[in-house]
Amino acid sequence: MAKIEWTPALSIGVEIIDEEHKKLIAICNKLAYSVKGERNNKAITEGFKELRAYTVYHFSNEEKHQQAISYPAANAHAQEHARLRKRVKDYQQLLYREGYISEDSVIEFLKDWLINHVLHEDMKIGQFFRSKTLETTQNAVMEENENADPNNSS
Ligand SMILES: [Fe+2]
Ligand SMILES: [Fe+2]
Repeated sequence: MAKIEWTPALSIGVEIIDEEHKKLIAICNKLAYSVKGERNNKAITEGFKELRAYTVYHFSNEEKHQQAISYPAANAHAQEHARLRKRVKDYQQLLYREGYISEDSVIEFLKDWLINHVLHEDMKIGQFFRSKTLETTQNAVMEENENADPNNSS
């Protein structure tokens, strides 16, 4: 897997979440590197441990943000997070049991997790957030106009 670089195309438009995604990309790149060529099981184990810890942290923050903006698909999104968390745990158990996981399977997972989840599911949170912000601004402007003194045009 070529190294994933964060680009504005990956931005969901919510700064805190974008920053956490950048950190996640760095963790995934490190993990992808550790399963290539001269494999280092200690680095792979550490990589999964770091991914799991950061995943728990990031998903929790993202879910709090969804609650704060009353995101309508929050439950489905949380289920998807639970599925991804479980997959990380499954990889850890597999590695512990077999002492080996294939490069292809890890890369496939990282692609699914990073590209599909961030680009498709997380992006929807950003779109909803922007539409909600726009609606709030429009309502505030309308309210201001309604309250404006029609005789005072200044
Ligand atoms: Fe998410
Ligand atoms: Fe995310």
